Amino acid sequence: MKSAATIFLAAFLALSASWAAFVLAPQLQLGREPQAKATGTDNLYPVARPGLAKQGAEVYRSLGCVYCHSQQVGQEGVKCEVILTEAGTNASVTLAALAKLNTELGQPQTLAALPKVLMPVADVPTAVPIIKAIAAVGAKAEARVTPVGADISRGWGLRRSVAQDYAYDSPVQPGTRRFGPDLANVGLTKPDVNWHLRHLYAPATEIKGSTMPPYRFLFEKHKRGAKPSPDALQFADEPGFEIVPTDDARALAAYLVSLRADAPLVEAPFTAPTPAAPSTNAPVATNRVASLPYTASELLKLPESSK
Ligand code: HEC
Repeated sequence: MKSAATIFLAAFLALSASWAAFVLAPQLQLGREPQAKATGTDNLYPVARPGLAKQGAEVYRSLGCVYCHSQQVGQEGVKCEVILTEAGTNASVTLAALAKLNTELGQPQTLAALPKVLMPVADVPTAVPIIKAIAAVGAKAEARVTPVGADISRGWGLRRSVAQDYAYDSPVQPGTRRFGPDLANVGLTKPDVNWHLRHLYAPATEIKGSTMPPYRFLFEKHKRGAKPSPDALQFADEPGFEIVPTDDARALAAYLVSLRADAPLVEAPFTAPTPAAPSTNAPVATNRVASLPYTASELLKLPESSK
């Protein structure tokens, strides 16, 4: 037993080194992640969820929704393109400059004959000299960055999920199984609280052939009296009864509509479409709860089946 102290010390060191590397270091790096600025704006991202939605996260956790739903969007890469945004005052000069920059364009005679995408490029740094050359003739161009991948084309998100997205969540519930669709952006694609309540009570009334289990115990069923409850959900197949969501159901629905990762970040960039006519008092915050100057359907090309 002479070496007991040495063995103890060795084991202690080995365990504490791995604890430091696998627990302490990630906590220091990510645990105190400050809010980031959404690229191109002064808006901080993410913002804390509203109180009701925070309670809803607990309901989501207690009901085990995570066993069927993930909240993490994957991405395989990005597509980068140069887009002409302003043609400048001298169309022929612009056209000549563009024809020189991209010989594949041929010799377009009018601005209308130009394709929407001037040219694909490898990445944003490659686009910079092209954009500068276009600016030199008085026109304006920009690089458009579009994430690509299976999850993106399913309409599950605008970009991949990053640690920043979960900064206010404790515990984080990214999930690993996908018996149902990913919910990281369900607040963008389905922003209606009542839709979620109806879907939770009877999934098949909202999505034909849904295999999601109904969560009827989150609702109370009353005989409809003289004074119907203002919160009651209307169902054609429940005549004479009213279905009233409980506090848990309301919190869960508030949580679901708060799920939206729509801020372009340095580590996960994408080009948000510019609103058609930005008014000075338009809501500008790009975060999970504030409304955006553009609509979800503009952002996400939803597959036909999920509309
Ligand atoms: C047994 C697996 C399973 C469980 C558990 C489950 N779901 Fe689902 N969920 C599905 C399936 C399958 C779909 C796709 C069909 C549909 O939309 O009803 C779905 C769809 C959804 C949708 C619509 C998503 C979209 O983009 O169309 C939402 C929202 C949702 N579930 C929320 C929840 C919540 C909240 C819980 C926990 C209370 C939960 N689910 C539990 C399987 C499940």
